[in-house]
Amino acid sequence: MITEFDQILIGEKEIRSRVAELAARISEDYEGKDPLLVCVLKGAVFFMADLARQITVPCELDFMAVSSYGSSTDSSGVVRILKDLDANIEGRHVVIVEDIIDSGLTLSYLRKNLHARNPASVEVCSLLTKPSRRKVDFACKYTGFEVADEFVVGYGLDYQEKYRNLRFIAVLPEEGVE
Ligand code: IMP
Ligand code: MG
Repeated sequence: MITEFDQILIGEKEIRSRVAELAARISEDYEGKDPLLVCVLKGAVFFMADLARQITVPCELDFMAVSSYGSSTDSSGVVRILKDLDANIEGRHVVIVEDIIDSGLTLSYLRKNLHARNPASVEVCSLLTKPSRRKVDFACKYTGFEVADEFVVGYGLDYQEKYRNLRFIAVLPEEGVE
């Protein structure tokens, strides 16, 4: 599978060290706060698993699945919750863990939705961000890497459900990889 991609955008080592840096910041910021990490399925699974294991304060994990209506590479801003949280987040310090912020529409909706449940705080930790694609202003406290306006896959990110299990992040070639 690796040979199908001629260029790796962000390698395994680079991902690992950035995830460790983010985890260190979160550990410092959430000392004594027992944060609840909310993984946005499916793209953030590996990121959340690696991040959580590097966080040194006690934390809990929960999962949400959302779908945004639109084409496979473009989101429409209409978000539907497919799987809601198990936890009641009232009074909790919530950290939403996401794979990528593109237009910002999904996370704007999610943050608003979680805010309405009266948590103590809601912050966002996104592995990637594509600032040039923003349709709505979105401030993210913890960001791994900025990427250009290209469709990327790997380390959880998919194209039509494929390539999530790549250990690195690569740009999907416009002509496809098969
Ligand atoms: P937004 O609502 O436009 O910010 O879209 C966010 C969602 O679109 C992400 O959670 C991803 O699932 C998907 N997405 C956006 N850009 C990419 C990409 O380059 N590769 C894979 N998925 C992407
Ligand atoms: Mg996603």
